[in-house]
Amino acid sequence: MASVPFDQLDGEIWYNGEFVPWADAKLHVLTHGLHYASSVFEGERAYGGEIFKLTEHTERLHASGKILGFTVPYSVAEIDAACVELLKRQGFADAYVRPIAWRGSEMMGVSAQKNRINVAIAIWQWPSYFKPEERLKGIRLDIAEYLRPDPRTAPSKSKAAGLYMICTLSKHRAEDRGYADALMLDWRGQVAEATGANIFFVQDGRIHTPTPDCFLDGITRRTVIGLARQRGYEVIERVIMPDEMTGFTECFLTGTAAEVTPVSEIGPYRFTPGEISTNLVNDYMALVQPKRAAAE
Ligand SMILES: Cc1ncc(COP(=O)(O)O)c(C=O)c1O
Repeated sequence: MASVPFDQLDGEIWYNGEFVPWADAKLHVLTHGLHYASSVFEGERAYGGEIFKLTEHTERLHASGKILGFTVPYSVAEIDAACVELLKRQGFADAYVRPIAWRGSEMMGVSAQKNRINVAIAIWQWPSYFKPEERLKGIRLDIAEYLRPDPRTAPSKSKAAGLYMICTLSKHRAEDRGYADALMLDWRGQVAEATGANIFFVQDGRIHTPTPDCFLDGITRRTVIGLARQRGYEVIERVIMPDEMTGFTECFLTGTAAEVTPVSEIGPYRFTPGEISTNLVNDYMALVQPKRAAAE
């Protein structure tokens, strides 16, 4: 983790159409997005100077805004171009890309019909510290107290800042209890996902993953399902109840940040990262390498 606070890093931030010095990318305390969580964002990774699945992420940013009732005021092509240009200006090869859109300061109440929609993009260095032997030991997950909400009580398909309140609470509790992260169940008590990544299990050579009907259907999740099927593995999307974890032999998480991360433990359940997890860790890392490098 960087020891320098994020508001004190170097470089530029793309802010409502302009490249501004990092320190100048500010907003006012009376901003609707801060008080009422009217904000949507993306998390992307650049590998070797190329942003993986950039357009899919930008399309999801637009879709998340729509779900929160606003239109991101820059087209997908404009945001894609801004991300590419900013990555060049920052001069990073391996980096994290964070676009965000939020309601501004024109109205300060629950109703914010006239508020400007602001958009910013920040990119910071994030090397891919990929040490397969370390990763293949697997991480330990707690089981969260908070449940992923019913889609009738929260806009669960949007990558909306407000939905991360229960993720931060759950991750903090897990860390305080000595775990790396937490598995969240959904409002029905079914297995849902980790606090910032989707989850998969292996049983008898088949891969099982929860149907994403109340949480993010991650871009990495869909990518890894494709990679698994290319290898001839059967992938079953279905309802998974917590007590079924007794019968699963492998478990792994997927996400832009997590990439493919094997899991060794979830509360009382134990898993041993095996052939399927190893193959998918490696297949995913091969896929994200920039095409021009792969062609050399
Ligand atoms: C709650 C949550 N679930 C799943 C994911 C995985 O999504 P993706 O693979 O698109 O990064 C993320 C990361 O964005 C997340 O924050």
